[in-house]
Amino acid sequence: MSRPDLSVNLGQLRLPNPIMVASGTFGYGLEYERLVDLNQLGALVVRSLTLRPQVGNAPLRLAETPAGMLNAIGLQNEGVEAFILETLPRLRAYSVPLIVSIAGESPEEYAQVAERLQRTSGLAGLELNLACPSPSHRAFDTAPQLTAEVVRAVRQTTDLPLFAKLSANGGDLVPIAQSAVEAGADGLTLIHSVAGLAVNPHTRRFRLASRVGHLTGPAIKPIALCAVWQVRQALPEVPLIGVGGITSLDDVLEFLLVGATAVQVGTGNYLCATLSTDLVGALTDYLTQNEIGTVRELVGAVRDVM
Ligand SMILES: Cc1cc2nc3c(=O)[nH]c(=O)nc-3n(C[C@H](O)[C@H](O)[C@H](O)COP(=O)(O)O)c2cc1C
Repeated sequence: MSRPDLSVNLGQLRLPNPIMVASGTFGYGLEYERLVDLNQLGALVVRSLTLRPQVGNAPLRLAETPAGMLNAIGLQNEGVEAFILETLPRLRAYSVPLIVSIAGESPEEYAQVAERLQRTSGLAGLELNLACPSPSHRAFDTAPQLTAEVVRAVRQTTDLPLFAKLSANGGDLVPIAQSAVEAGADGLTLIHSVAGLAVNPHTRRFRLASRVGHLTGPAIKPIALCAVWQVRQALPEVPLIGVGGITSLDDVLEFLLVGATAVQVGTGNYLCATLSTDLVGALTDYLTQNEIGTVRELVGAVRDVM
C-alpha cells in the first residue's frame, strides 16, 4: 500500500499531519530543536504572548497530581516585540506551520498583539488563549459575551486563520463555542485546562502560590473528549483541535474519532520530549497496517456501543 495521507485541513490552513504541540508546553519550539525534528510536527504552537514581557507568577507554580499536574505559570513570556525581533527569525528556518498563541487582559490587548503579528510574515495562524482573567475577573472563556468580545476585536485586525482556545470551566461549552465562531473564529481548540487545587496536608499549605491552578494531563482527557464531542455535535463543520491528556496513539485516535480534526500534545511533552513526533510515526504505521488511505477518514467516525 502507498504511504497514507496524514494531511488535514483546519479551514484554509492545511497541516501536513494532525499532531501539533500545545501552547506553553513546548516553549517557543527552539528549546526543543536539538531533541525533536520540528519539521515533523503538524504544527508548532508557541507559548502565549502578551503585549509586554511578563515574568509570570511567583513560585510555587507547579504541583504533580494523580494522572496530571497543576500549573500556575502566569503567562511568563518575552512579549510580542521581542518574539518578532528575536525568536521569529530563528523559527522561520523551519517549515513547520507556526501558530502564535495570544493572551491578554482586555479585548484591546489581544487585538494589539494580533495587529503586530499580522504585520510579520511566516505565521500559519493565531490561537487565542481565552483562559485569562477579563477585567470582570472571570476568564474570557467562561461566558459567550466575553469570548465574543475578544474574538471580534482580534478578527478586525487580522486575516490570519484564528483559533479560539477554550477551557471547560464555564459550564455549558456549546454556547461559548458558538459565540466564538459567530464572532469570527475559524476553528476551536478544546480544551485549555480544568481549574484545580492541591493542598499539602502535612504542612497545611496550598501547593501553589496562586492557590488555584490549571489541571492538565491524562486526568482531564475524558473532560476534553466530552468537550470535543459535544461541540462537534453542535458545530459539525467547524475545525476542532482536541487537547487534553494525550500521551499515546490510542489517545490521538480517540480525539479524532469523536470529531477532532487535529490534536495537540501538552503535558505529554514533559514525559517524553519526542512524544509528538513519535505519535506522527505511530499514526502513520497505524494507518498503513489498517489500510486506511487518509487520516481524515477517522475524524468523527465514532460508533455507538451497540
Ligand atoms: C506548564 C504549562 C503551561 C501552559 N501554558 C499555556 C499557555 O501559555 N497558553 C495556553 O493557551 N495554554 C497553556 N497551557 C495549556 C496547554 O496548552 C494545554 O491546553 C493543556 O496542558 C491541556 O493539555 P495536556 O493535558 O495535554 O497538557 C499550559 C499547560 C502547561 C502544563
